[in-house]
Amino acid sequence: MHIPSTGYSIYHSNGVFAQLQAFIEERYPTHSIVVLVDDNTFELCLPVVAGYSDSIANAEVIEIPSGEANKTLENVQHIWESLTGLGIDRNTLLINLGGGLVSDMGGFAASTFKRGIPFINIPTSLLAMVDASVGGKTGFDFNGIKNHIGLFTNPQAVFVDPVFLNSLPERELYSGFAEMIKHALIADAGLWAELKNINPTNADDVARYIPRSIEIKNTLVTSDPFDNAARKALNFGHTFGHAIESYFIGADNELLHGEAIAIGMVCESFVAVEKGLITPTVLKEIEELIATHFSFAALDEYDEEAIMVLMGQDKKNSSGNINMALIAGIGSCQTNIAVGADEIKKALHYCKALSY
Ligand SMILES: NC(=O)c1ccc[n+]([C@@H]2O[C@H](COP(=O)([O-])OP(=O)(O)OC[C@H]3O[C@@H](n4cnc5c(N)ncnc54)[C@H](O)[C@@H]3O)[C@@H](O)[C@H]2O)c1
Ligand SMILES: [Zn+2]
Repeated sequence: MHIPSTGYSIYHSNGVFAQLQAFIEERYPTHSIVVLVDDNTFELCLPVVAGYSDSIANAEVIEIPSGEANKTLENVQHIWESLTGLGIDRNTLLINLGGGLVSDMGGFAASTFKRGIPFINIPTSLLAMVDASVGGKTGFDFNGIKNHIGLFTNPQAVFVDPVFLNSLPERELYSGFAEMIKHALIADAGLWAELKNINPTNADDVARYIPRSIEIKNTLVTSDPFDNAARKALNFGHTFGHAIESYFIGADNELLHGEAIAIGMVCESFVAVEKGLITPTVLKEIEELIATHFSFAALDEYDEEAIMVLMGQDKKNSSGNINMALIAGIGSCQTNIAVGADEIKKALHYCKALSY
């Protein structure tokens, strides 16, 4: 399957790496190839792709440490230094083989190195397949704020093969599933009905819905590449979610991105009820599915003021308001809704009560 995006394509199939090899030979016959991995994807994913692609088997490899705490300027610098050490010139293609951490940092490092070298994303986590590898947002965390420094910059192509889900830890499968739930809630009631009935830890079950989930994200980003209008719908669950995620970075009970977004979607669905956009029955339906797969326990221990300060850093704010994308029914979303501090506190209290 082939989904056209803004100047590049997303290729999805089992065994897609044969196509990757043909793509490299046709488009980059004389380029040096460098693969960026983290410690896990070095061990578990690189041999899989190398089995299909001589270009990857013979490539130079740069490794960064896994984990959100490593999504830092120091590791971007490590990528720049490694490229420099390899004597890399602009006739080089960087292949980001990993989850969202690798594609966000690799895309940023590639696009800033010598004013930009091309890159390809091969997402290996569910979250990166349905979300992070598509849409052109790259960057790293800075001063404790998620994705504080970054660029919009597109890959030359994205190659998605669900084979990698087989080695992905269950918690990571759930994390990616949260973004699939988000795509359904903002754009596709039919998908929502299907996702309600699947087991997120069954990789085959999940894989069937990956292409539709990518399509939803891709449709929104191609209609609004720079996040000025329709694309903001993808931020549903993320205003609360990012702040909650940032708050727990480095803590014992650190949350995965999707785990924080799952809590954020319930907080924001609560706000949607307060705003009269959805009924309490719809909130309950959402809450029920999310509570089946995710825990609210983190909210048992949080500093409301600190989370509110972090929400104030959200890139979607303007003129002092906290702007949110809120669902207006299952499968529909409204953007740029100004939400006040009292409503935010009430939503946090509501979700905290779910943690008992
Ligand atoms: N650019 C975007 O539009 C966008 C969208 C959503 C999220 N993000 C970013 O993406 C990051 C989260 O992405 P993620 O969930 O992929 O996290 P991640 O890249 O940290 O990967 C999660 C974990 O799974 C491991 N892993 C990856 N693939 C594996 C595989 N096939 N088998 C075994 N282990 C594997 C990784 O090594 C890591 O330990 C966050 O930094 C978030 O901000 C970006
Ligand atoms: Zn997200």
